Amino acid sequence: MERITSPELAQAFIDEQIAAVRKQVGDKKVLLALSGGVDSSVVAALLIKAIGDQLVCVHVNHGLLRKGEPEQVIRVFKEELGANLIYVDAVDRFLGKLAGVADPETKRKIIGKEFIDVFAEEASKLEGIKFLGQGTIYPDILESKDGIKAHHNVGGLPEGLDFELVEPIKLLYKDEVRVVGKALGLPDNMVYRQPFPGPGLGVRCTGAITRDRLEAVREADAIFREEIDKIDPTPWQYFVAIPDVKSTGIKDGKRYMGWAAVIRAVQTKDAVTAKSVEIPWTTLCTIRDRIIAEVPGINRVLWDFSDKPVATIEWE
Ligand code: XMP
Repeated sequence: MERITSPELAQAFIDEQIAAVRKQVGDKKVLLALSGGVDSSVVAALLIKAIGDQLVCVHVNHGLLRKGEPEQVIRVFKEELGANLIYVDAVDRFLGKLAGVADPETKRKIIGKEFIDVFAEEASKLEGIKFLGQGTIYPDILESKDGIKAHHNVGGLPEGLDFELVEPIKLLYKDEVRVVGKALGLPDNMVYRQPFPGPGLGVRCTGAITRDRLEAVREADAIFREEIDKIDPTPWQYFVAIPDVKSTGIKDGKRYMGWAAVIRAVQTKDAVTAKSVEIPWTTLCTIRDRIIAEVPGINRVLWDFSDKPVATIEWE
């Protein structure tokens, strides 16, 4: 198959997939979990073009999304593209289940299971759904086949959900998905979005998640991204983590125990190895000053400039 490298090739692919999806789906309905990530967003935009109202998108807010993400999903898909979108505010439910849980794998399991439960509950409220749309892409299939990782999009539907799959981008590589996303009219900050783990900010709020520290991660991360976005070219991935540690600071002449916001920006091809990216001193100072002044609970900013290996990209 020819690689999709231009708007013309993307349009040809879109036309071909619209016809294929219409043929597969007929007059039945398709359900899609729309996270706001590149892959599910491109599938949603494609399916809206192909089958319009027969697509039902479900966006689950698990409370671990970055600042502005749920709002953007609603704005782009519901308001601009006219999607049939169900927004589920499951923040209390997820954070309740995660309260007091410090072990990273247990946190992941809780988030994964809860996600499937919420999604299945929403699906059971709907009538006449026969298909499940998925943003599976080619590397997901390759990695699953090689046994590298059991990708969440491959190898099984949530139990009890008896759907046939609609996977229109399953033969595409990530760069092709982006070209198709552009051609479908999705905004650049969705199409060129940096990778973001499924368990979201949960892996960056290490140890047991508390609402105040989670809010601090979200706010500090938004400031950091805003400042790093001014650098050209932007790094492959850049984010803030806040470990569950407090240290002494001083405020109004008194001891002020606060968290340390850890900033991290890396460059990589495949995330297997990664190099820390140089950040200019003036940018670092702006980031430090803004995070400390604007984010309650933080009294230090640390720069993690470790390479992978030995450090992983995430702090989890
Ligand atoms: P590490 O921390 O292992 O991360 O160096 C490598 C890359 O994988 C991303 N990551 C995930 N991506 N689901 C994803 O889709 C996940 O559960 C997940 N966990 C980590 C991480 O952000 C980095 O880019």
